[in-house]
Amino acid sequence: ARITLRQLLDHAAENDYGVPAFNINNMEQALAIMDAANQVDAPVIIQASRGARSYANDVMLKHMMDAVTEIYPHIPVCVHLDHGNEAATCMTAIQAGFTSVMMDGSLKADGKTPGDWNYNVGVTKTVTDMAHLGGISVEGELGVLGSLETGMGDKEDGHGAEGKLSHDQLLTNPDEAVKFVQETKVDALAIAMGTSHGAYKFTRKPDGDILAMNVIEEIHRKLPNTHLVMHGSSSVPQDLQDIINAYGGKMKPTWGVPVAEIQRGIKNGVRKINIDTDNRMAMTGQIRKVLKDNPEEFDPRKYLKPAMEAMTKLCKQRLQEFNTAGQA
Ligand code: G3H
Ligand code: 13P
Ligand code: ZN
Repeated sequence: ARITLRQLLDHAAENDYGVPAFNINNMEQALAIMDAANQVDAPVIIQASRGARSYANDVMLKHMMDAVTEIYPHIPVCVHLDHGNEAATCMTAIQAGFTSVMMDGSLKADGKTPGDWNYNVGVTKTVTDMAHLGGISVEGELGVLGSLETGMGDKEDGHGAEGKLSHDQLLTNPDEAVKFVQETKVDALAIAMGTSHGAYKFTRKPDGDILAMNVIEEIHRKLPNTHLVMHGSSSVPQDLQDIINAYGGKMKPTWGVPVAEIQRGIKNGVRKINIDTDNRMAMTGQIRKVLKDNPEEFDPRKYLKPAMEAMTKLCKQRLQEFNTAGQA
């Protein structure tokens, strides 16, 4: 069944678990996530970015969501818009059947300029006012994603803040978080504490200097009833880097967010954990391997099937690690 983010995260808070939000762009990713959720009896969040919507088409996404809920009627699924950049994007997602939207006012609609307080509160409140009338949930974001090591926003994959950012911008201020939630009435709050999108988050195993989990603890103390969201939460596992590089890929050495840090977050109010890069890597590693090992092969199913299986494995692992398993 399709459920809202509010319904799902309220249940997660009552039962002390976190829910991974996996990005999809195509049928294979949707099926892989649902296969994993079904195997471990977990609810799940499937999210689509603006890029996914233009890649797959809203009509295709809508019917894919209908299809997976028909195939797995017993699995609660929240269908969420990832990083909506303006009110209109959120409204068209709702029209396309999403049960939850993110209005990311931490950046202006251009996706590069940090949004100031009045802009962020204003645009987020516009969306919550409208979405809540229709029973749709809203995630907002306060603080800009980017690296505490370099001060750079996550421009690497084509979106994120441009140029150098201060620690004030890169770390969500706990007192402002309280005010932001009061004024906007968001159902979930994404916070910034040193993670960024993509594979290149940290140049070393992160410690508290570059991954500020203490900020989450402080926000949770001040906002014990608000569901917190961690973006940029791929762990970028070494074994997936190795597979990609062993079969012709060229990924530079890098570190992601250790699962243990996410588990610490879950003990401190983190309920939604966004993961895209790990699944991209899982699929790409298998596609590279099949094509390298079988250069005579040209049937897409021959490489997409192992790619889906690798993604299912990753999703299952996270559902178990975040204690989502068994909660459906
Ligand atoms: O926001 C980051 C997600 O990984 C989605 O990425 O905008 O390339 O689809 P995307
Ligand atoms: P990753 O790039 O770490 O997977 O983050 C995904 C994300 O935050 C989507 O909103
Ligand atoms: Zn994100």
